[in-house]
Amino acid sequence: MKFLLASATLLAIFAVLILADSNQWGRRVPGDRLLNRTTVVNNSLPIPIKTAVVQYLPPPGVRPPNVTYIVARDNVKNPGQGGLAALISGGINQTHATVKLSSRPSLGFNFTVEIYGR
Ligand SMILES: *[C@@H]1O[C@H](CO)[C@@H](O)[C@H](O)[C@H]1NC(C)=O
Ligand SMILES: *[C@@H]1O[C@H](CO)[C@@H](O)[C@H](O)[C@H]1NC(C)=O
Ligand SMILES: *[C@@H]1O[C@H](CO)[C@@H](O)[C@H](O)[C@H]1NC(C)=O
Ligand SMILES: *[C@@H]1O[C@H](CO)[C@@H](O)[C@H](O)[C@H]1NC(C)=O
Ligand SMILES: *[C@@H]1O[C@H](CO)[C@@H](O)[C@H](O)[C@H]1NC(C)=O
Repeated sequence: MKFLLASATLLAIFAVLILADSNQWGRRVPGDRLLNRTTVVNNSLPIPIKTAVVQYLPPPGVRPPNVTYIVARDNVKNPGQGGLAALISGGINQTHATVKLSSRPSLGFNFTVEIYGR
């Protein structure tokens, strides 16, 4: 029973990994916190490939937090229908990060981008 449960859990995890097009950089570390969470949706029909740029800039202050972990979570769970997320500027150990989101041809996207830092 335990084994079956463990297998089912693993299978569920792998299914999510394969089906979703989420992307992540870095890792959570002790003492970090959520700096920004933004959900971006683009379902504009006539445009073949939709894009969006999510930019996190440090808040004004003398010692802005350093980014530790970034996750672009694809909220579209249907296989092969999710979008693509790329880190195009800044990132881990820097004070800013820019993630570019894009859809597959003739599909939309729905991403939640979370930036952690300390
Ligand atoms: C998070 O980022 C979004 C988009 O850049 C911005 O509109 C929002 O104000 C930010 N929220 C916080 C708490 O910084
Ligand atoms: C959707 O993506 C297209 C192409 O990048 C862009 O021109 C349009 O402004 C976006 N629409 C929304 C609602 O973000
Ligand atoms: C961010 O990293 C730089 C270089 O490693 C360091 O000098 C700075 O103190 C760090 N900032 C914070 C808020 O920890
Ligand atoms: C985008 O995904 C979020 C999280 O799953 C959901 O709450 C929201 O309704 C979705 N937005 C659209 C327009 O589909
Ligand atoms: C970020 O900084 C940590 C601690 O200094 C280091 O271990 C890690 O390799 C760095 N990561 C990147 C992507 O620069």
